[in-house]
Amino acid sequence: MDRDTQPDIDFEDFSFDAFDEARRPGPQATGFDQVVERALSRRGFLGVLAYGSGAAAMGLGTGVTGLLSSVSAEAATSRFAFTPIPIATDATVHVPEGYTWQVLARWGDPLFSDAGEFDHETGGDVASSARTFGENTDGMELFVVGGRQVIAVNHEYVNPKLNLPKNDGGTPASADDVRKLQNLQGVTVMEVAEGEDDWHIVVDSPLNRRIDHNTQMRLAGPAAGHELLKTEADPTGTSSLGTFNNCGAGRTPWGTYLTCEENFNGYFGSTDEAFALPEHYKRYGIGAKSVYSYEKFDARFDVSKNPNEPHRAGYIVEIDPSDPASVPVKRTALGRFKHENAALTLARDGRVVVYMGDDERGEFLYRFVSSGLYTPGADTSALLDEGTLSVARFADDGKGEWVALTPEATGMSAAEIAVFTRVAASKVGATTMDRPEWVAVNPVAVEAYCALTNNTRRGVKPNAGGDETPVGGPNPRAENQYGQIVRWYPGGDDHAADTFAWDLFVMAGNPAVHKDAYGGSDNVNEGNMFNSPDGMMFDTTGLLWIQTDGEDSNEGDFAGQGNNQMLAGDPATGRIERFLTAPVGSEVTGLTWSADRRTMFVGIQHPKAPFPDGDGKLARSSVIAIKRADNAPVG
Ligand code: FEO
Ligand code: CA
Ligand code: CA
Repeated sequence: MDRDTQPDIDFEDFSFDAFDEARRPGPQATGFDQVVERALSRRGFLGVLAYGSGAAAMGLGTGVTGLLSSVSAEAATSRFAFTPIPIATDATVHVPEGYTWQVLARWGDPLFSDAGEFDHETGGDVASSARTFGENTDGMELFVVGGRQVIAVNHEYVNPKLNLPKNDGGTPASADDVRKLQNLQGVTVMEVAEGEDDWHIVVDSPLNRRIDHNTQMRLAGPAAGHELLKTEADPTGTSSLGTFNNCGAGRTPWGTYLTCEENFNGYFGSTDEAFALPEHYKRYGIGAKSVYSYEKFDARFDVSKNPNEPHRAGYIVEIDPSDPASVPVKRTALGRFKHENAALTLARDGRVVVYMGDDERGEFLYRFVSSGLYTPGADTSALLDEGTLSVARFADDGKGEWVALTPEATGMSAAEIAVFTRVAASKVGATTMDRPEWVAVNPVAVEAYCALTNNTRRGVKPNAGGDETPVGGPNPRAENQYGQIVRWYPGGDDHAADTFAWDLFVMAGNPAVHKDAYGGSDNVNEGNMFNSPDGMMFDTTGLLWIQTDGEDSNEGDFAGQGNNQMLAGDPATGRIERFLTAPVGSEVTGLTWSADRRTMFVGIQHPKAPFPDGDGKLARSSVIAIKRADNAPVG
């Protein structure tokens, strides 16, 4: 979610970015002309332009809007099996001609028949909230388990005014209210099936499961058992409850689901005004006031009573979708930060490589390489517990390196690196990025992409650790309201290599409003423009699907960009075309496919009414299923 321009926290239209904004106010925006001047006068910025990518055969742009890729869309052989669609500003979903969509699952849809049908008056009771599809759908993956199709899908946060419609301002007023909100977040594992006419949840499937803010978890990896993770309830520091703010996702080659804890900081608060917050809370934005007031009704979230509890969140969690009784595992070796997603691939020698973004202004891009090799059929239970966590350092000349976060390099123990990962990364001079969101690895070329969604503080304010955010390299525009996608090519065509080359696949922008760098790169035009790339995933053919979570006012800098959308990009040509437009107010996030690839599942998060149920009904976050009318594969 991202309402970067929202000045105040408001439960009705809440964003965790707004929460951080309120906690760490940024400066007033400077004059736009100055911004442009600064961006264009940077040598580093020009350096990016001069770097040509081997894999994409990119050319050097000429004028200011000729940045990066001199794409000749007309000359390129189209790989797009759809007719691009125009922007929309209405409250529904649009897909190209020849495609259809339907709702598969909405907040409150029963996973078990004892939950009953959704109640638009109350938003459901606390009992049903544990037995239904949760709120704010996000990252997802489909698995085939014993011939059944099972989707594991995240529920990132809640919209209390919708979820507690009887409460004043949606503010929780009881332990039951808090429990209901806790139940609506986390992860759903659900069997789905395609009938004669549509896709549906298989209610009461033995594989259906809800994982929420109170589900038993195991802590594994370098931080497990460390003093920092011990609490009164868990003196071992190895056993925690709940997974929080589950944003993007990932999947392992061995068939497990990875859910990524993003804005976990917002769940913790203090009931004791005199409690002195530990200094190290600052880097992670943990403060005395929480977002949902959990601490008032559930002492686990009260940092004055449980100061180590926040150290037990902010991880990547591995879930076995084939076993509803399995205990999810928090993999501390992958670091603790605002995890967006987890993009897995294998190194040439079979080690597991995990790319991960830390989505906050000026935070970093990470990579984990396992010590062990992945061997199909062999034990994989500890593969994500031992390895090397590194952070990206980008040079302005189109080169970069992965810097290992070792005790030698950081002066911190392995456990401290796992818990205070941001601090470790700052110590080695990692490159401050424009909010790293999803990473996607191309399945048909040795390259990876990260969506840098936007950063309105680029060039004007350091990150939460005090690291400067200079304009340049892969973050070439000050007060960047549009975002860009950076791409890197691992040295020696090996994702485990310590060096890489990089370029920008696209700089989003508005060429109708700006004739400078804020107009975007050459592959952005008035017909395909967008802002704030976020969700990102490759299909099996090597097309990059890009989902946006941005400003949908359709005014000013965003005039002509309409609602949030999903586009497809061709890595070989840089061409980008719009495939889907989302209901006003929503973001598009989460993407997976049916086993036969004839259905694409897409998440619509935080829509406004009347989506999807019509006037007078509560808005409900939904997963939709998209098919081609001729039932051909869609990626
Ligand atoms: Fe949950 Fe950074 O998006
Ligand atoms: Ca976002
Ligand atoms: Ca996101």
